[in-house]
Amino acid sequence: MEDFTLTELKIVTAPDERLETKCEEVTEFNQELHDFLDDLFDLMMEHDGIGIAAPQAGVLKQAAIVYLDDESGIIEMINPKIDVLSGEETEVEGCLSFPGIFGEVKRPDKIRLTAQDRNGKEFTLEANGYLSRAIQHEADHLEGLLFTSKVIKYVKEEDLEGYEEE
Ligand code: CO
Repeated sequence: MEDFTLTELKIVTAPDERLETKCEEVTEFNQELHDFLDDLFDLMMEHDGIGIAAPQAGVLKQAAIVYLDDESGIIEMINPKIDVLSGEETEVEGCLSFPGIFGEVKRPDKIRLTAQDRNGKEFTLEANGYLSRAIQHEADHLEGLLFTSKVIKYVKEEDLEGYEEE
């Protein structure tokens, strides 16, 4: 099992069994984790992503980041749990591990995220809309679940008006 000790992070693209493996819980909230999260954020920004999960950098730990570049700020979620509250929405998703692949995915709309931050402090937040979708997409990665297993209809890249990759 890989640890947080990769020197240079790169995006793992499908097919790759690391993307379909349930990740291990994070138990140590140390400098190594903080450095990894900083590198993971940089990797996401380099690829114009709005979310990224540790296994997408080849690290099989329950850590992910969502950043929609809005008032919700950078959300680092360690060992996340999601409770579904209400609603259902279908929207197009993409994924940094599936370049050029987009598809409509139906997900619950309103959710409650319970997770730990980089210092191990538990937090909860409620989300709906695209923030909720991005959180669910990243939490799925930590279970080894890929959005392609939930796509109900693929969409051609040229037919997309605006999209964001997770
Ligand atoms: Co993804």
